[in-house]
Amino acid sequence: MNPFSVAVTGKGGTGKTTVSSLLVRSLVECGRTPVLAVDADPNANFHEALGVQPGETLGSMREEAFTRSIPPGMSRTQYIRLRFRQVLSEQEGYDILTMGRPEGSGCYCFANDLLQASVRLLEKDYRFLIIDNEAGMEHISRGTIGIPDLLLIVTTPGVRGIRTAARIHELAQSLGLQSVPTGLVFNRYKEEKTDMIPGLPRPLAWIPEDPSIEDADVQGRPVAGIGHSSPAMVAARALSKKIIDCAEKRQ
Ligand SMILES: Nc1ncnc2c1ncn2[C@@H]1O[C@H](COP(=O)(O)OP(=O)(O)O)[C@@H](O)[C@H]1O
Ligand SMILES: [Mg+2]
Repeated sequence: MNPFSVAVTGKGGTGKTTVSSLLVRSLVECGRTPVLAVDADPNANFHEALGVQPGETLGSMREEAFTRSIPPGMSRTQYIRLRFRQVLSEQEGYDILTMGRPEGSGCYCFANDLLQASVRLLEKDYRFLIIDNEAGMEHISRGTIGIPDLLLIVTTPGVRGIRTAARIHELAQSLGLQSVPTGLVFNRYKEEKTDMIPGLPRPLAWIPEDPSIEDADVQGRPVAGIGHSSPAMVAARALSKKIIDCAEKRQ
């Protein structure tokens, strides 16, 4: 399988994890499975947004795990693949892979290497990859998550948010992603939408401020469990349809 990968980027707190989790739910509900949800933010909370128990993370894997004796009859690649599969949390229609924080010295190199290796090794098993990134473009600039098929920049509608989105867009271009289709996701908008913003990628989605997201947050319920007709869910479903269209056009 050749998966269609979507990298969700943006400033901290704009709604990357929220949007990512609603997209996973929509794709699963549309039967575009299996989906791999990748939590590439060391401050892992994608599982919470999806309502999944935290499992093992790549960051907690020790280097020795790959150098110890490999079971007889198994190649090194098979063994590594097996170890990566053990980190996955398997859900109905999707799996979640969590990078997490490296233990000990705090060096991210090994965790980043593991993220890169695991995504490369496992992605072929999935139809869609939804990658929830940390703020900034760390994984894009290091090439950890490869070149996505679609780059989403999540922003809130304020002037500062939009300026940051423009900077992220510029950075993505300077990192060689000029040919990657890029779309802006306006999250938490409250007013009339405008859709011509010079210097920014085309707006792909307008996700309204949704009290049911806040309620879920306050009550500690997974955001991906909001009502089927909640405004943010409806908007995320429309975005997932555009993503499915992009994926189908690519084939
Ligand atoms: N459309 C929305 N309506 C209401 N609250 C939202 C919406 N999107 C995100 N939030 C809230 O904003 C905060 C940050 O969202 P989050 O997805 O964690 O951002 P990020 O992953 O970009 O840091 C969370 O408390 C979340 O519940
Ligand atoms: Mg987040």
